[in-house]
Amino acid sequence: MDAWLNEWAQLLFRWVHVLAAIAWIGHAFFFHSMERALRPPEVEGVDPDVHGELWMVHGGGFFRMQKTRVLPPVFTGHLHWFKYEALFTWISGFLLLVLLYYVNHAIYMVPRVDGVSSGMAVGIGLATLVGGWAFYDFLWAGPVAKASKTAAAVLTVLMIACTGVALTFLLSGRAAFLHTGALLGTLMTANVWMRIIPGSKKMVAALEKGEEPDLRLGAVGHQRSVHNGYMHFPIVVLMISNHYAFLTDGPMSSVVLLLMLGLGAAVRQLFYDGWDAHIAVKGYVGAAAVALLALTFPSRPATVASTGDAPTFEEVRQIVDRRCVACHAKEPTHAAFTAPPKNLVLQADATILANRELIHTQAVVTKVMPLGNLTKMTDEERAILDAWHAAGSPGP
Ligand code: HEC
Repeated sequence: MDAWLNEWAQLLFRWVHVLAAIAWIGHAFFFHSMERALRPPEVEGVDPDVHGELWMVHGGGFFRMQKTRVLPPVFTGHLHWFKYEALFTWISGFLLLVLLYYVNHAIYMVPRVDGVSSGMAVGIGLATLVGGWAFYDFLWAGPVAKASKTAAAVLTVLMIACTGVALTFLLSGRAAFLHTGALLGTLMTANVWMRIIPGSKKMVAALEKGEEPDLRLGAVGHQRSVHNGYMHFPIVVLMISNHYAFLTDGPMSSVVLLLMLGLGAAVRQLFYDGWDAHIAVKGYVGAAAVALLALTFPSRPATVASTGDAPTFEEVRQIVDRRCVACHAKEPTHAAFTAPPKNLVLQADATILANRELIHTQAVVTKVMPLGNLTKMTDEERAILDAWHAAGSPGP
């Protein structure tokens, strides 16, 4: 695919993706805050089935929301469904995954295991999404949840955690974090479209025919919606972690991933329960946050041993030419790039000097560059860049 068109398509899908996701999670938060703010009806003569109501003011208008205790006998008016936000979030996210990761699989999927090609890594990524949903839905729609909801919940958590950790060993760090997030997104979207909406549709159809609706369908919808609530928080941090390669590709990336999943789910509990949250929940959130903060130290990549003598600028330039310029050139020779990534060109002495701090951070401190170490930079070369930086980055 033409790399320039790919970039534009990515921009478009990312825009749709972020907007749709804001609308989707925003609705979830909105319903939650309405639910929490419900008051018993104050006005005389209100339908006795209304067990809570809420007056809201927004955008210069007043809104009155009522929650009924019973199912409405028939729908006379228009029933508003919330479902397209989820669908558009998933579709735009999947297209983005294809354009960024699958089209450029040789750069972004880079498997960490010998014998696994980057093409196979794409297969692993897709299998994660399909297999993850099949397993999760089997747990909750099949005999496991019927026998014990606790068992189904424990197996769901184990499935997500083990998949995430396995991916950090199989794929590049950013692909692993992104696919763990995409797994959550797939479960959430499939919950809406395969379980929650069809169940509600059946209930509405029964009501319209004047039959007794199957209330178990509503209970299943509620259960899946609660599951989605636990995934809202971790999914967002997993998606943005892609911009922090020191997290996704650092030495303790699988622990960071587990903490993000755990902390995200716990924050949901705190957010939903507010200050009334059980002390154990507060303790858990605090402990997970402290653990994540504490991890910032050991997850720092080991500093490279300095070589002693300050290297000359000539040596530095040779390293940059060998390891960076394939991509960071006006006309990159690396097949995946038609323009220098981040518009960073490292061909002239002046630009190497001007970017000395960035080069040090990316190639020595976090070791995120060269991307996926595709140009096979050695630790000795990183040590030379470090010594050059320590000596005040002398010019030619
Ligand atoms: C295989 C291609 C490739 C190679 C080789 C490569 N880079 Fe990069 N570089 C990228 C990409 C892609 C990005 C954008 C990263 C992102 O989107 O997360 C980037 C981003 C950067 C940035 C961040 C710029 C910013 O403004 O945030 C710096 C600094 C950098 N590279 C330095 C280097 C150095 C130094 C080397 C050599 C040691 C190097 N790169 C080798 C592809 C490469």
